[in-house]
Amino acid sequence: MRKPIIAGNWKMNKTPAEAKELVLALTETVKDAECDVVVCVPATNFAAVKEAAEGTNIKLGAQNVHFAPSGAYTGELSADMLKACGVEYVVIGHSERRQYFGETDKTVNLRTRAAVAAGLIPIICVGELKDERESGYTDIIVEYQTLMALHGLTEEEIKNVVVAYEPVWAIGTGLTATDEQANETIGVIRKAVERKYGKDVADALRIQYGGSMNPKNVKGLMAQPEIDGGLIGGASLKAPDFTAVVMYNK
Ligand code: PGA
Repeated sequence: MRKPIIAGNWKMNKTPAEAKELVLALTETVKDAECDVVVCVPATNFAAVKEAAEGTNIKLGAQNVHFAPSGAYTGELSADMLKACGVEYVVIGHSERRQYFGETDKTVNLRTRAAVAAGLIPIICVGELKDERESGYTDIIVEYQTLMALHGLTEEEIKNVVVAYEPVWAIGTGLTATDEQANETIGVIRKAVERKYGKDVADALRIQYGGSMNPKNVKGLMAQPEIDGGLIGGASLKAPDFTAVVMYNK
């Protein structure tokens, strides 16, 4: 009953010309996708991607958003600015932002609230580090990160949010969580949401897996009952790979 959502996270890659070429290729190859298809691109590519994706099933996403509506925040972009460029989704709290740019659970929550207030759909990233998994803290970490991110949203708002479970040790490493590990931890996240917000909300919430998801492992992951899609880094940068992931059930 939850529609799967597969989103590319391009990270800091591609010029506008390269972005246009990739999206134009995808417009043909993913047009019959049964999932929602999103590309989260650098802001310098918004215009090129918007134009190339016009009238197709490919939606535009950003990779971060500031929580203030405007003001003295050099280098930042507000939710309304993203909206005005045709952005519909925004990645929030990616582990690279947590690791390299001082993102905290508090700022993830502020960004999430600002995104939702502006009518953007946040893709909130949560996930444990390698030593946290090895020490047995995975469940506590993902529950805490998820509930902190959602704090202050209404139940109706939470139903429309997307969470991406991305074990940090699996991002860009070629290591993937096993289908069962990913399914189990996503189940833990859903249970935590159910305890706090009820079954209705938990059943509606879409939770993706992310971390070296690719054409080879997508089928097994997507066959798991708790996994509602993927957040795709490396494999989203080439049309054939991203197509194979998006069209996993063809
Ligand atoms: P990866 O990145 O697919 O290259 O591991 C996933 C992500 O960082 O969202």
